[in-house]
Amino acid sequence: MFDLPDYDDHEAVVVARDAQAGLCAIIAIHDTTLGPAHGGARFWTYDRPQDAIVDALRLSRGMTYKNALAGLPFGGGKSVIMAGKDRTKTPELLEAFGVAVEKLGGRYNLAEDVGISPGDVATIARRTAHVCGLPADGNEAAADPGPFTARGVFLAMKAGLAEVRGSEDLGGVRVTVQGLGGVGGQLCDMLAAEGAVLTLADVDPARAGALAARTGAQVVDPGQIYDVDADVYAPCALGATLNAATIDRLKVALVCGGANNQLATPADGTALQRRGILYLPDFVVNAGGVTHTTSQLTGWPHDKVLAKLGEIPGRVRRILDLAARDAVDPQRAAERAALEIIGKR
Ligand code: NAI
Repeated sequence: MFDLPDYDDHEAVVVARDAQAGLCAIIAIHDTTLGPAHGGARFWTYDRPQDAIVDALRLSRGMTYKNALAGLPFGGGKSVIMAGKDRTKTPELLEAFGVAVEKLGGRYNLAEDVGISPGDVATIARRTAHVCGLPADGNEAAADPGPFTARGVFLAMKAGLAEVRGSEDLGGVRVTVQGLGGVGGQLCDMLAAEGAVLTLADVDPARAGALAARTGAQVVDPGQIYDVDADVYAPCALGATLNAATIDRLKVALVCGGANNQLATPADGTALQRRGILYLPDFVVNAGGVTHTTSQLTGWPHDKVLAKLGEIPGRVRRILDLAARDAVDPQRAAERAALEIIGKR
C-alpha cells in the first residue's frame, strides 16, 4: 500500500472484516489535524480489493481538503464496504460495519455515500455512536445531503459562468449532467428553473426519462455525454470521468459537478486547462452535503448551514485568483489552499 500513488501519509488505513456477516471494508483516515475524520461510507462492487483501497485513499484525502476549505472542524476520512456481485446489503453486514467504526473510538465519523441510504446509516448507528446524517424522527428526506450538495454545486456553477461567460445568468446556458441521483437530479431541477437547457445521461434510463419529462431535457446514452456541444459539463455520477480518454472529447467551457474525485490523475487538471476548459475542483463545490450532515455534530442551525453554503461561490473565486496568481490549475491551487489550512504547506 505504501507504494500506491494515492497513499499520501494517511494516518490509518483499517481493514474491517467480519466473515460471518459478509463484511469486508476499508476505513481510511487521511488527516485529523482539524478534528476527527469525517466522510461518507460507500457500498460498492469493486473488481479487486486493491481498487477499494485506492478508492478509500483518494476519497479520504479529498475529504481532508473538502472539510478544511469548508471551514468544518473535521479531518478527512472515508470508508468503502466491498459489495458482492449481487450487492446484497443485510442489516447484519451494516451492524458489523458499525462495530468496526465504534472500535475506532471516534477517530472516524461516517455519514452516507453512494450505495448507503440514511436508513442504512440508522442501521449502522445501532452499533456505533460515531455517525451523523441520521434521519430525525424517521424523516429520511430531511437527512439526505443530496439537495445541499446540489445547491452548493449550483451556486459554484454560477460563479464559474461569471468567469467564462461574464454573467451568472443561466437562461439558455447548455448544461450536460451525468448521473441523475440524489445530487444530479436536484441540480437539474435548479438549473431548469432558471432556464438552462439540459442534456442528461444516466445508466438508469428510467431515471433519465423521468427527469427529462419533468425538465424538458434531452437524454443521450451515457457514453455520449462527453461529445455533446454545450457550455457546462456537470459530472454527478462516479469519479475519474475526466481522464485521458474523455478530456479531448469535451466541447464545453466549464466543468462543475458534484461527483467526488472527478480528475483521474493530477495531470488531467492541467490537460483541461490546456484545452481552455475551466475546471472547478470537486471538493470545493460539493461541500454542501457534508456541511449539512455534520450539523448534527457541530450543532449549527439550518440558517447557519445555508449561510455556509452561500460561501461556496466566494471560495471558488478565491481559488481561481490563487490559481492565476501562482500560474497553476485550479485543482492544484485548491489543494495548496487546503494544505495551508492544515499546516502542511
Ligand atoms: P446516487 O447514487 O444517488 O446517484 C448516482 C447516479 O449516477 C445514479 O442515478 C446512477 O445510475 C448514475 N450513474 C452511475 N454511473 C453512471 C455513468 N457511468 N453514467 C451516467 N450515470 C451514471 O449518488 P449521489 O448521492 O447523487 O452522488 C453522486 C456523486 O456525488 C458521487 O460521486 C458522490 O460521491 C458525490 N457526492 C455526493 C454527495 C451527496 O450529498 N450525496 C456529497 C458530495 C459528493
